Amino acid sequence: MELSGKRIVLGVTGGIAAYKAAELVRLLGKAGAEVQVAMTEAATHFVTPVTYQALSGKPVFTDQWDARMPNAMAHIDLSRAADCIVVAPASADFLARVAHGLADDLLTTMVLARDCPLLVAPAMNRQMWENPATQRNATRLREDGVTLLGPACGEQACGETGAGRMLEPEEILEEVIAFFTPKLLAGRRVLMTAGPTFETIDAVRGITNLSSGRMGYALARAARRAGAAVTLVSGPVGLPLPQGVEGVAVTSARDMHAAVMARAGAADIFIGVAAVADYRVANAAGHKLKKDTGGVPPLELVENPDILAEVAALAKPPFCVGFAAESQNLEEYAQKKRHKKKIPLIAGNLIQEGFGGEDNRLVLFDDAGVHPLTPGPKAVLARQLVEHIAKLTGRN
Ligand code: C5P
Repeated sequence: MELSGKRIVLGVTGGIAAYKAAELVRLLGKAGAEVQVAMTEAATHFVTPVTYQALSGKPVFTDQWDARMPNAMAHIDLSRAADCIVVAPASADFLARVAHGLADDLLTTMVLARDCPLLVAPAMNRQMWENPATQRNATRLREDGVTLLGPACGEQACGETGAGRMLEPEEILEEVIAFFTPKLLAGRRVLMTAGPTFETIDAVRGITNLSSGRMGYALARAARRAGAAVTLVSGPVGLPLPQGVEGVAVTSARDMHAAVMARAGAADIFIGVAAVADYRVANAAGHKLKKDTGGVPPLELVENPDILAEVAALAKPPFCVGFAAESQNLEEYAQKKRHKKKIPLIAGNLIQEGFGGEDNRLVLFDDAGVHPLTPGPKAVLARQLVEHIAKLTGRN
């Protein structure tokens, strides 16, 4: 799990988004973190400490004079063991107090006494967020090394729309995971393809395949967590775009080819994960083909461009990574493919072990030899593949 072994203090301040912090406790716990909740007095007017206690399995602290701390050092004891403090929601008043070094309750005292990173997810009405005082405080906090998560734009509890809404719990979780991920690809521009393509036969039919896009999407997420600027050119899939990743939606192999070739020159790394159709229909019909017109309609197939081989053949190619999905003879076919497409690294997998599912088994082939990765969830394999790419491109 991404946050296994991490101890996180979750600070909750007074704002209606406090109800979303309950979900965040659950998500952080599910990701393997040990969560200790501390609330401001104002926060207890929105959600009672019992909610967070039930979800975190730990007593919740609100008061610096809490008698449960025998040495009256709650602020030190609770924050000293933490790997980070996350405050969500962080009210305008809380940001102001931290920006000025005030320590007039348990949470602000813990923040002042910490020796770990502080991440805050602001949540307030848009006018409070836009107020020059809040903006000044946010700038000061960034200068002090505090990480601001959001805020997002959108509809607010007060009925207004604008910037100031807290990020969703899933988004905060993703940012916390990214925060702890070593930045092996910092500053790198990664271009990727993922998913299937769809080749038109007529107005309602087409040729496609069973690629779910999961491996490619997991890899895009892992590269972004590792600090890369990621552009994901994706065929039709039912997956949400990973946070912080630029998405380019395409349908056919030719669309994918055009989208990739327009961007490949600016990429440091290109990873072709898409299951690109080898052929498209040359005589696709603009209307729906009718079946009772006598005989089977003849489909004429023509070969699609090989996107990966074309990127690898550029005068100044990015570092190219391919995937080889095979049903047998994995090593032989994957190596052949690597040499034919002239790429330094290929990740091979047997389709019966990974296509469409959550888990996968990957074997990497490069100039140094064969590197089997431990089979497991696609997210874990994606992280290992990113580490391998970072090693081969000389930055770890
Ligand atoms: O030749 P094959 O389709 O087996 O090669 C698979 C690898 O090549 C994958 O990385 C895939 O994304 C890429 N590919 C491509 N364009 C194609 C066919 C495959 O980029 N037309």
